Amino acid sequence: MKQNNKKVPIIIDTDPGHDDALAIMLLEYSEMVDIKAVTTVAGNGTIQNVTDNARYVLGLLGSDAPLYSGSSKPLKRALVRAVVHGENGLDGAPVERGGKLTGDAVRRIISIIRENPGEISILAIGPETNVAQAFLLDPELPRLVKRMVIMGGSIAAPGNESRVAEFNIFVDPEAAEIVFNAPVEKVLVPLDVCNDIILTKSDFNALKGTPLYEPVSKMMEKYISGISMNEKVKGALVYDPLAAYYFVDPNAYILEPMDVRIETKGEFTRGMTVAERRIWGMKDVNVLVATKVDGGRFKKDFFRILKGKER
Ligand code: BDR
Ligand code: CA
Repeated sequence: MKQNNKKVPIIIDTDPGHDDALAIMLLEYSEMVDIKAVTTVAGNGTIQNVTDNARYVLGLLGSDAPLYSGSSKPLKRALVRAVVHGENGLDGAPVERGGKLTGDAVRRIISIIRENPGEISILAIGPETNVAQAFLLDPELPRLVKRMVIMGGSIAAPGNESRVAEFNIFVDPEAAEIVFNAPVEKVLVPLDVCNDIILTKSDFNALKGTPLYEPVSKMMEKYISGISMNEKVKGALVYDPLAAYYFVDPNAYILEPMDVRIETKGEFTRGMTVAERRIWGMKDVNVLVATKVDGGRFKKDFFRILKGKER
């Protein structure tokens, strides 16, 4: 699986969130990537809460990745927060509240990419507000990004925020529309594949004997009780690490080129990811959609990396 010694430089744009926290852990401990920045965006919690949560996670990992806070609300709408992550977005974790907000995530995204044209990938695992703002401010930027990997949307599965919309896209459809229309290679990891992969409470026993076991079990216990009730599953759906895992092992994914548009006007379909699936439909491919992820491989690597701290 180790392809070469060159680490992929990435920006993680995130709204932690229990599954965001797991995604950050996976990439921080993986030897495959170099985290140039963690940028926060309001979504699972307010910008204050998700930034405090991100700071807690980075501290737990002993990470020296720079943390920059970003948008406090979607481009054109009021913030809708998630329910399954609890009151402050990362229930079950002893997060210190009221930390510093830098407010410069968008500026940092632009400058990091500008300083390394064609090199930087973006992992977008929250609403796409920060990235859209960066693309609006600097229209050449999408062409300078190596690749975006996005957790969001659903192709044929029902939504998890509304009947048809996935949370990240639902929260800021206008931002998602900008990103989906931008000339940058995009890999989309939608609900359809995330729904197949569940981590149970006992899966986390794999971390016993490591410093992560206690804090991670505590936070996951809260998440599992919230999401298992909501989604009627016997464990946790872990969306964001499944997108993050693309940087660890892209061969674990089957990708299909698709033409996916974002609904920004519908009364009942706000934030729907509308894919052209008709055989005879004109297709203007804008995204590579993961239609299968090897869940067994993901689980094995996920716990091996969290246990072993590859670097
Ligand atoms: C997405 O919504 C958030 O609640 C999760 O962190 C994930 O990014 C799943 O729909
Ligand atoms: Ca998220």
